[in-house]
Amino acid sequence: MTRVALIGGDGVGPEVVAVARRALEVAGEQAGVEYAFESFPLGAEHYLETGQTLPDDAFRRLKSEFDAILLGAVGDPRVEDDSHALDILLGLRFRLDLYINFRPARLLHPDLCPLRPRPDGAERAIDLVVFRENTEGPYVGMGGSFKRDTRDEVSINEDVNTYRGVKRIVQAAFDFAVERGHKRVTMCDKANAMPHAHGLWRRVFAEVAADYPFIETEAEYVDALMMKLVQYPERYRVIVTSNLLGDIVSDLTAALVGGLGVAASANLHAGRVGMFEPVHGSAPDLADTGTANPMAAVLAAALLAEYTGDLAVARALESAVVDALAEGVRTPDLGGVGSTASVGDWICDRLQAG
Ligand code: NAI
Ligand code: MG
Repeated sequence: MTRVALIGGDGVGPEVVAVARRALEVAGEQAGVEYAFESFPLGAEHYLETGQTLPDDAFRRLKSEFDAILLGAVGDPRVEDDSHALDILLGLRFRLDLYINFRPARLLHPDLCPLRPRPDGAERAIDLVVFRENTEGPYVGMGGSFKRDTRDEVSINEDVNTYRGVKRIVQAAFDFAVERGHKRVTMCDKANAMPHAHGLWRRVFAEVAADYPFIETEAEYVDALMMKLVQYPERYRVIVTSNLLGDIVSDLTAALVGGLGVAASANLHAGRVGMFEPVHGSAPDLADTGTANPMAAVLAAALLAEYTGDLAVARALESAVVDALAEGVRTPDLGGVGSTASVGDWICDRLQAG
């Protein structure tokens, strides 16, 4: 029995999570895996009604009573500066110490890639993962404003990088490369402009690399890497980087394989409950239109299944999405005419057919 906590959240979050839940259920039935779901009504509605964002009791239960958390998205125009969303999302990431933000970008259909065909005419085969550090960097919120709203304003956000924090994410990237048989790990930083903070990344990267002599390594400045990712995305398999740079790099890599409608991510720390989510936000512009693409959420469910060890479920969910894309079963963001429900139904029917 795999226990999954569902946090639909705001906007299109609940709609796409409902599809992902059903897909997990159906794929689970086929593979003999039973899922027990429980929904947590966290999000803007709950916050506006009660003033609560991530209550201690909910946090305690999420931490100890589940194998995985599937989150839709949080963010609502009714809440100024999305403070509830920060509390929930960063609260879970930080308080559970989910230091690995795992962001795969695999091209699931050739026409999802916005790049022109390769010069050599070969099919594009983009298949990489960004390991984004998830608990440090500017996201810790250290800093402040002095003489705010005056012409003398000074505003600072500290970029926090610790030896332990850098080491564990770099190690996770190398371990993943070994597990998947990848030959090279790329580190992305800006050590030329930030010699202290990102110098630490370079030193730790070299230190960890010494334990994996059979893996080729390279360190790239983020600006150069962004260019090369557009020019030769097939070259990369495993990229490890800091929280802020990872946020940015992974949006680019997501765009290379179809964009937010198909981008999924996982927040991980071995031995702890993992949190799985589509990369996209709550898309208030699409809420209640019924046209949000549910594929990213289904692919997040596939990552969930992989993490909980239900590999057959993971493969089935991925294949169902690949088949839907191939058959032209798509929502408008991918050039289709389908709805969240019709694409979801198609995926579930395909899973049911086995
Ligand atoms: P967004 O990801 O919600 O939307 C960006 C664009 O992508 C919009 O045009 C939207 O219509 C489209 N889009 C998003 N998801 C889609 C889907 N499933 N299918 C088709 N199109 C989709 O980002 P935005 O607009 O910057 O933020 C909206 C709210 O979401 C904000 O409150 C923001 O803070 C929050 N947010 C939450 C995240 C999370 O919970 N992890 C991540 C990013 C944003
Ligand atoms: Mg982002």
